[in-house]
Amino acid sequence: MKIFIDTADLGEIRDAAQMGVVDGVTTNPSLVAKTGKPMREIVAAICEIIDGPISAEVVATDTDGILKEGRELAKIHKNIVVKVPLIADGLKAVKQFTSEGIKTNVTLCFSATQGLLAAKAGATYISPFVGRMDDIAGEGMDLVQQLVHIYDNYGLTTQVLAASIRHPLHVVQAAEIGAHVATIPHKVILQLLKHPLTDAGLATFLADAKKIPASK
Ligand code: E4P
Repeated sequence: MKIFIDTADLGEIRDAAQMGVVDGVTTNPSLVAKTGKPMREIVAAICEIIDGPISAEVVATDTDGILKEGRELAKIHKNIVVKVPLIADGLKAVKQFTSEGIKTNVTLCFSATQGLLAAKAGATYISPFVGRMDDIAGEGMDLVQQLVHIYDNYGLTTQVLAASIRHPLHVVQAAEIGAHVATIPHKVILQLLKHPLTDAGLATFLADAKKIPASK
């Protein structure tokens, strides 16, 4: 499973990149707004840090507007993936982007029917929002399972990108299901790394190391 980092914070992206665990980045307007910087500036800076797919989201909601905005985003760097909302005008834009060779990430997916249509339109990635479904007492991970299964049934090439990941168990479940990608916040990437037995074991080794006599 590929790991994308779900943030527009350059410090977080650099930190995870240095660990060698990041294959790509997803952003959205809320994440970019937190940086206080213009979208193009942030996206271009991210492309300098990570050599992998970088999702940048349009804010237009009509097909012509989505196409105009998406083409501008795609010009920033060859790794840009245009993130498009899962609405009818969005799917029309996805069909056109696909014919132009522009990669897409169809976002805000909350049902298998939406995901099926996004794949038919030619989406490169589909983003089921696991955490937000859990928030309303749904089973977000069931949707990831359904999409993997349905795409596999028909050889659809759209990659399932488990999004709105909130904790390490989501990551394990997505990997067990066979999601192609999970996009994970920096905080959760650090949680994946932590284990109390690692910390305790390291503390013991370091304490015992002090008891080893120095060589003569
Ligand atoms: C996905 O691409 C979105 O940016 C993100 O995963 C949404 O996560 P949230 O529900 O925690 O905001």
